[in-house]
Amino acid sequence: GVTNENSHPHCDPTCKISIVHNGIIENYFEIKQRLMDAGNKFTSETDSEVIAHLISENFDGDLLATVRRVLPMLRGTYGLIVMHSDFPDLIIGARNGSPLVLGIGNEEMFLASDVIAFGPYVQKIVYLNDGEIIKIDQNDFSVTNVQRATIKKETQDLESDVADISKNGFEHFMLKEIYEQPESIKRGLAGRINFAEYTGKLGGLNMRDAELDAIKSVVIVASGTSYYAGSVGARMISDMARIPTSTEMASELIAKNIIVSPDTLYFVVSQSGETADTLFAMRELKRKGARVLGICNAVGSTIARESDGGVYIHSGPEIAVASTKAFTSQITAFAILALIMGRGRGMSIADGDRLIKYLAAIPNAVEHILTLDKLICNIAKKYSSCKNFLFMGRGICHPVAMEGALKLKEISYIHAEAVAAGELKHGVIALVNPDTPSLFLVPDDELRGKNISSMKEVHARGGKIIVVTDIDDPEINAIADDVIIVPKTDRELTPFTFVVPMQLFAYHMANILGREIDQPRNLAKSVTVE
Ligand code: M6R
Repeated sequence: GVTNENSHPHCDPTCKISIVHNGIIENYFEIKQRLMDAGNKFTSETDSEVIAHLISENFDGDLLATVRRVLPMLRGTYGLIVMHSDFPDLIIGARNGSPLVLGIGNEEMFLASDVIAFGPYVQKIVYLNDGEIIKIDQNDFSVTNVQRATIKKETQDLESDVADISKNGFEHFMLKEIYEQPESIKRGLAGRINFAEYTGKLGGLNMRDAELDAIKSVVIVASGTSYYAGSVGARMISDMARIPTSTEMASELIAKNIIVSPDTLYFVVSQSGETADTLFAMRELKRKGARVLGICNAVGSTIARESDGGVYIHSGPEIAVASTKAFTSQITAFAILALIMGRGRGMSIADGDRLIKYLAAIPNAVEHILTLDKLICNIAKKYSSCKNFLFMGRGICHPVAMEGALKLKEISYIHAEAVAAGELKHGVIALVNPDTPSLFLVPDDELRGKNISSMKEVHARGGKIIVVTDIDDPEINAIADDVIIVPKTDRELTPFTFVVPMQLFAYHMANILGREIDQPRNLAKSVTVE
């Protein structure tokens, strides 16, 4: 439960030892049972509290040595901080599976699970790796491991944009981040187009052209919004480079015994670079011999460090729990990848040229969509009493519909279900009624006719229809109750222009309903537990 008793820090029975723990202790129950049998009293329902009790039980006057002895007794994951009130100038930290980073400021040091927490107070950072233990005292810090070996750590500069975190006049970080997209997409493209050869360039892949050309299939692994960005990326790579590409949810990949093939290139996608499911999936793939590249936003994050190379998306710090600009930056990276892989195979100069021109025009197209904000807000007002929504898209717009539904769910708490539009007639149509609006994504492509047929099925059953489209089409206008027209782009790039209206729709819906937009209930920005 979300209660004062369950919040950290947790203490030992003497209240001298305090701990803060991020992660899950899998064997807490047996430890707690034993300690309770021995007479210990617990004050919370957490697994974390057993750590403080165990340290207390084993304490011999040396906090570092005691923590080092206790860690092997814990099964699970931790980013852990320990203090003892008899040693006020000493902090011990330890990491296993959950992030921990040291921030060094002006005569002060901090430990956190994410550099974003440091704000302007820190100039240098040191990332800890799994198995490492840090000791901080008044003057310095030192890092060792459970076997007592000293580990020399590199100090890095903290990126300046991490220190500059403000809403910049916007009511919420989410809205600010939606409005940042023209710039963040531009940053993701900067220096990554090779105009002379009609292709892209990505320095961090650590792969020679010949190695890229030898790839026979691609698998993209991620969670949540990053998974939907990966699903868009999979379509881009399959369509443009003609390489069979599939996606795996990270949590599902860990749940099965995945077959790794040497000709397959694996990408893990993560805004934070710390999502436990994605990190553990990456480690499992690497353990099986796969080459795994990362597509991350957070520079220096665990996934970025442990992957075999990859791409930083440069969208800047994303603070709102609901991911927006990271999604468009992730698909920017995939568009460049698909261009590189496509040009290494059969993609013509003309197709490469066309794609580059449309990609370069995306920031302006998004800028234009932001001018539709008022219209989208009014549409949200009209439907704000609805309790259920259907989101429908086909082809590359199907994962975009899923992302739109996720946005609405997580910040407005309205139930939304995304459906591949062609699947509607196979069962979901039973849900259509006048109180359940359907939001259709209808680009002007070869699937338009089929999408209009699905709209007609909904219309005939009294369902309200909101359409996002890139064409002023009388047939669409005749059936739809509300239409949002976005600028036209290349068929493969429609996810950029179609996702932004849905981000704004979800934002306004949540705002109208008075929700906690930047920190929705039950959610965390980085999900560092499995
Ligand atoms: O940091 P990551 O991209 O790995 O996070 C993955 C998901 O937890 C994340 O995208 C989540 O779904 C967002 N809250 C969606 O807005």
